[in-house]
Amino acid sequence: MTARAYLDHAATTPMVPAARAAWIEQSERVGNPSSLHASGRRARRVVEEARESVASQLGVRPSAVVFTGGGTEADNLAVKGLFWAAGEAAGARRVLVSAVEHHAVLDPAQWLADAQGAALTLLPVDGLGRVDLDVLAHELTGPPVAVCSVMWANNEVGTVQPVHEIATLCRSAGVPFHTDAVQALGHVPLDLDGIDAATLSGHKIGGPVGVGALVVDPRRDVTPVLHGGGQEREIRSGTLDVAGIAAFAAAVEHAVRGQAERSAHLLGLRRALERGILAAVPDAVLNGDPGERPDRRLPGNVHVSFPGCEGDLLLMLLDAAGVDCSTGSACTAGIPEPSHVLLAMGASLAAARSSLRFTLGETSTVADVDAVVAAIPAAVDRARRAGTVSLRTV
Ligand SMILES: Cc1ncc(COP(=O)(O)O)c(C=O)c1O
Repeated sequence: MTARAYLDHAATTPMVPAARAAWIEQSERVGNPSSLHASGRRARRVVEEARESVASQLGVRPSAVVFTGGGTEADNLAVKGLFWAAGEAAGARRVLVSAVEHHAVLDPAQWLADAQGAALTLLPVDGLGRVDLDVLAHELTGPPVAVCSVMWANNEVGTVQPVHEIATLCRSAGVPFHTDAVQALGHVPLDLDGIDAATLSGHKIGGPVGVGALVVDPRRDVTPVLHGGGQEREIRSGTLDVAGIAAFAAAVEHAVRGQAERSAHLLGLRRALERGILAAVPDAVLNGDPGERPDRRLPGNVHVSFPGCEGDLLLMLLDAAGVDCSTGSACTAGIPEPSHVLLAMGASLAAARSSLRFTLGETSTVADVDAVVAAIPAAVDRARRAGTVSLRTV
């Protein structure tokens, strides 16, 4: 089999050697961290050392780190748990989330509105996908808000939000602020000072799938979503995944320590990919913030609309040519949905449907970029012809 060009690191990225080694080492041993015997105490020690390591890499207290079964679970815990706790404490019923959140935040927020009597406001974004701070400030002056959630960096178009300005606005209004930092960790500097809660996910940073964390200020009340054995300060019940947590901690250390070097590598490849795509398809349109600073855009994200093409067809044609990429948007019951992110940014339905996301990672190479640039012209040409045919036959 010839090597494939993998440009879907935002979906999942390969495990780094340190994480794999930690996982293998711990998976060969037995012991439930809640058991009182020596094997259990050993397992508990591994978990607590992992907690201390994650906390020190992120500059927070160990008690702030609540291990979860991944990013989706941590997002659910933050949105529902902070909403319920604020409701119990102060009767606050409002939920503010940005219109470009991942479904792991959007859907629990919508569920709170549909099933739990929350009043949900989707915060609008500008053409680059950035939240309007004036609108947020205005919303915070209304009836009490239980929780505000705005992602650190967008998984589709890579836009980085003004997270600290948002945190400051929320803090002055006394509103708990959560940020989904799943795509940001390891790609931009992550300063959690002043942030009440942040979501992390293992498999986006070179750790295993199915483990992550909610980093939450221990002074904040969070009502649990899962009830059971009372693990993780009773915030998240369930037997702890020792091997996964040890591997996650190794991946967090790797992500944080290598961030500056990694980002420079990704930025170089991103520039080459953008240049190559525009040279091959001159009417292609780059989406999102053109900025290169870490407070503007993720360094490894390239998001492009190819006018006249169906993104899903283009994806399949590139797949056949050995390139793995993504449309970035969700697929409901096998039917491709236009991206809610691009629509919120003001894109037309046609533009939203004609887009592809290429995401670079630590293992990406110039050869990956060259493979995309070589495959794009023929794929775009075929997708355009298919588009014309289907228009004629409808
Ligand atoms: C921004 C963002 N949040 C949350 C998630 C969900 O994380 P997990 O796959 O660990 O459940 C993802 C994964 O695609 C993501 O990109």
